[in-house]
Amino acid sequence: MKKLVLFASGAGSNVENIIKYFKDRSDVTIAAVFTNKPDAGVVDKAQLYNIPVVISAKPDLENGSAFAEVNRFSPDLIVLAGFLLKFPSAIISAYPNKVVNIHPALLPKYGGKGMYGMNVHKAILENNEAETGISIHYVNEHYDEGAIVFQEKVDVSDCDSPEQIAARVRKLEHEHFPLVIEKLLFS
Ligand code: GRF
Repeated sequence: MKKLVLFASGAGSNVENIIKYFKDRSDVTIAAVFTNKPDAGVVDKAQLYNIPVVISAKPDLENGSAFAEVNRFSPDLIVLAGFLLKFPSAIISAYPNKVVNIHPALLPKYGGKGMYGMNVHKAILENNEAETGISIHYVNEHYDEGAIVFQEKVDVSDCDSPEQIAARVRKLEHEHFPLVIEKLLFS
């Protein structure tokens, strides 16, 4: 049985999508969803599917208690899907090549500090980029700089709002993230 632990801080549409993709599987289980935001949409989504939710605020990440909690689930893969805090390097070193993140742009472009959520899509629009996409990558201590596992592009030359770009990117995320996770679990 492969065990997944998910981390998210926001609405959790990717978390819900991953839960739904694996929910009827006997060989994969979503062991827990960690979040730093008790009122985030991702909490309701996890509870809807009876997935344990672990609230890990900044101090818990920094003092090692989140690390201890993660170990309780002995995950085969740790998946960040819109987790906005710095991920503990202790967990990264304890789980080499087992922590992945999804970024809503074609890294290394539009990555790094401040590049999250709508900020990314606003920058794409401002720079008149004809295309954008998603990047799924290993997480290292430099966050958006880990080795790229998967990228996919989408044409946004006809988009005239960041929301339109976000919708196209989210569609790619939902289409590809569960498949990439499955490949990583069984490769
Ligand atoms: C996604 O755009 C993902 O690429 C980024 O954070 C966002 C999470 O969105 N890392 P949601 O909460 O899964 O809807």
